[in-house]
Amino acid sequence: MILNHPTKFAHFLLDQAIRPGDVVIDATVGYGDDTLFLAERVADFGQVYGFEIQKEAIDSCAERLIKANQASQVTLLNQGHERIITALPPELKAQAAIFSLGTLSPDSFEHITLPNTTISAYHQILSRLNRGGLIVFVIDPRFNETQEEIDYLIADLSRLEPTNYRVCHFKAVNVDQGQVLAIEKI
Ligand SMILES: C[S@@+](CC[C@H](N)C(=O)[O-])C[C@H]1O[C@@H](n2cnc3c(N)ncnc32)[C@H](O)[C@@H]1O
Repeated sequence: MILNHPTKFAHFLLDQAIRPGDVVIDATVGYGDDTLFLAERVADFGQVYGFEIQKEAIDSCAERLIKANQASQVTLLNQGHERIITALPPELKAQAAIFSLGTLSPDSFEHITLPNTTISAYHQILSRLNRGGLIVFVIDPRFNETQEEIDYLIADLSRLEPTNYRVCHFKAVNVDQGQVLAIEKI
């Protein structure tokens, strides 16, 4: 089943775009579900750059990667994704990126992703994205993302030039189980 969970669906989409050896970005590492998926996908000759503002989450993700023997291809950065461009090596091109919007735990509204920083970060990634590359945004109601962030993001995405980018919005129509937004660079 891939349609019953926004993260699974986002991974399914990423799987179509990523090949071993690619460079990819996890813009919201958290405990590392997406980071681990990306690390396995790019393999030990690819590279994952992960951004996260919470030190404890970064540490826990790092441990998880070591246990899974997937740490060598991952660079974890304890900094906001709004400074992605300054953190990446110059000339580096990325094949894919994932944002998982909201907070790390359903009980907390601390360290929530914000519309301005999410939008700034994805534009920075677009400037380094390969043709055929993909950016996905996971909107899972368990992570408390705000409707304000979703609305600003969709408004911004809808202004992307259709000759350069295909932008899609995936959501279930018979149940509220989250959404996925995706940009493909043409
Ligand atoms: C929904 S959670 C991510 C869940 C994660 N994919 C996982 O597998 O655990 C969103 C994460 O984004 C982080 N975050 C919020 N603002 C951020 C920013 N400006 N830059 C990087 N990470 C940020 C939060 O600390 C939180 O861990």
